[in-house]
Amino acid sequence: MQEQQFIPSKSYQLPEKGEVKWESPSNIALVKYWGKYGEQLPKNSSISFTLSHCKTTTQLSYQKKNSSKKFSFEVYLDGNRTESFEPKIEKFFERVEKYLPFLTEYHFKIETQNSFPHSSGIASSASGMSALALCLLQLERQANSAMTEEFFNQKASFLARLGSGSAARSIKGNLVVWGEHTAVNKSSNLYGVEFSDKVHEVFKNYQDTILLVDRGEKQVSSTVGHNLMHNHPFAEQRFLQANSNLEKILPVLQSGNLDDFIFIVEQEALSLHAMMMSSSPYFILIKPNTLEIINKIWEYRETHKSKICFTLDAGANVHVLYPENEKAKVLDFIKNQLVGYCQKGMYICDEVGFGAKPL
Ligand code: PMV
Repeated sequence: MQEQQFIPSKSYQLPEKGEVKWESPSNIALVKYWGKYGEQLPKNSSISFTLSHCKTTTQLSYQKKNSSKKFSFEVYLDGNRTESFEPKIEKFFERVEKYLPFLTEYHFKIETQNSFPHSSGIASSASGMSALALCLLQLERQANSAMTEEFFNQKASFLARLGSGSAARSIKGNLVVWGEHTAVNKSSNLYGVEFSDKVHEVFKNYQDTILLVDRGEKQVSSTVGHNLMHNHPFAEQRFLQANSNLEKILPVLQSGNLDDFIFIVEQEALSLHAMMMSSSPYFILIKPNTLEIINKIWEYRETHKSKICFTLDAGANVHVLYPENEKAKVLDFIKNQLVGYCQKGMYICDEVGFGAKPL
């Protein structure tokens, strides 16, 4: 599939006004995307668990406009007008206009809410951008009833990617691959595809408890971080490692071999942060408490013969991953030994989910 196939081939009779609403989840990468080229294209393939409880709900109200402004919209977060979000949306509209030519014909009211606290350090870009992409595409689908479900999902992921790379993996569940890889049928740099081979039962309800170590503003945004991979001395090796880890994790997701799963997932998390620490300029996003938690997890895994492990995204928070049958014990461990390292003792219990939903 080429970009051009996402450009509507004819103009449709669009409604005068209306509204659509979608909820879309966040995702946590097992094999990480870090480094991009062109227009939001990944330098390596990645795979993520779609989450269930961490999500964004977006309502898009649209009305044919009469203003001369190219894009006319207003954004509300939790009912409050949030002008600080508008430059990002403007940029997103610029990028996707070619694929959604009706954008310039409407005034949009975008009302959005996250299920997780704002400034919790949990990135809302994956769930937020995918929810908005789904709403906009739903508007096109209303006028084009011939659009297949498969095309809808591909184009939604394609558009979401143009808002935020990892958002491409938030449309479907429970495991999504983004980035072309010979081991994954139909995989693409343009959009995410569901990992459709038989996934082992243990991963169908895998748990992810997110420990909120640092809720502050990140010192380095992921846009800057991705760009620092351009002249990074270890970049090419890192892209090879990620593609190789993707190939290694696929049979593990089918066999349910949790020791191999743990090894790949933790190596990926630490490699991601090693790239940050060896960029020019270098930076560190983990905090002392991130390391305290990692050491406690390793100690617990050893003494309790547990299958608990961790992963990290581009921040200090720790995603604690474990099979559902260990839930009660791991939650006790978190409450007794890890909450002290979390800001205000905050953590969020999530698990693998199945993708976005219209409301
Ligand atoms: O989607 P972005 O540009 O915010 O990049 C996210 C990158 C990581 O979260 C660190 C890894 C990933 O694959 O999600």
